[in-house]
Amino acid sequence: MRRLRKTSLIRELVKEVRLDRSDLIQPIFVEDGLKRDVPIPSMPGQRRQAFSTVGREVTRLVENGVRSVILFGIPADKDETGSAAYDSNGIIQKTIYELKQQFGEELVVLTDVCLCQYTSHGHCGLVKDGRIDNDETLPKLAEVAVSHAHAGADMVAPSAMIDGQVKTIRDALDDNGFKDVSVMAYAAKHASSFFGPFREAAFSTPKFGDRRTYQMDYSNPEEALREIALDVKEGADVIMVKPALAYLDIIYRAKKRFRMPTAAYNVSGEFSMIKAAAREGWIDEKSAILEVLTSIKRAGADMILTYHAVEAAEWLG
Ligand code: PBG
Ligand code: ZN
Repeated sequence: MRRLRKTSLIRELVKEVRLDRSDLIQPIFVEDGLKRDVPIPSMPGQRRQAFSTVGREVTRLVENGVRSVILFGIPADKDETGSAAYDSNGIIQKTIYELKQQFGEELVVLTDVCLCQYTSHGHCGLVKDGRIDNDETLPKLAEVAVSHAHAGADMVAPSAMIDGQVKTIRDALDDNGFKDVSVMAYAAKHASSFFGPFREAAFSTPKFGDRRTYQMDYSNPEEALREIALDVKEGADVIMVKPALAYLDIIYRAKKRFRMPTAAYNVSGEFSMIKAAAREGWIDEKSAILEVLTSIKRAGADMILTYHAVEAAEWLG
């Protein structure tokens, strides 16, 4: 076996999985009311963008070869129903419009469709009698998705794990003349400890209980496949598995079973663990990041949502 490992060029020749800049999607936080961008303490190197700085940040990404972003909004005010999430003049809607004006088809704009950053209770759906009401939430999510499409989003990504959200959103997009807007379904999204840094970044920690009545139990791989099958049936264009690293088996099975365009979300906790260990000098940051991202692609992901996108793109050249 060692003959083909002899030199760097031979190793390049026989390489089976090749990470590419075009595989990477950078998540971006935009906060309403900010005057300038501010660092996110739980996610070293990541910043909450202001409306006035997000264009410059995306320019930096595009110059480094990252051509896809997923936007997360942080509103000035939260309320019981998360109404800022579907405000046509909301921070995300304005940002989508600006980015599309600035970059047009040179940038793929994806948007996270959920309520948790926008609700006072921090849950992904509407609360009724202390529980997350599935069917009452559906039209709200559809409103969010349509408002994003209206502003110019290329792809909407429902992440609430509310049953029927993909179909409801697909129908609403079609009914409102957005047949060309695609849906990336957070199909198998697991209740995970690895979302911690994100929730600090987006102020979206639930005020009571947790998300285990809607996000998946990580012990159930067969159920993950059923979840994904439903989203495919409901009209998802892209399926997603989230998180990525502790779920490589799910990514592998999903790709094998459905043969769909498949995304994996290398989440905030996975990002921050690498940053922390690198900061301590315990691992080599660059090689660890490239190893992790390659492993996600090797498992079957066609695209990776990752906070490492820009730095990795710079290294990949
Ligand atoms: C909102 C949402 C979350 C993430 C993506 N969309 C947080 C959550 O479900 O609590 C997590 C992303 C990350 O940790 O990087 N529904
Ligand atoms: Zn949510």
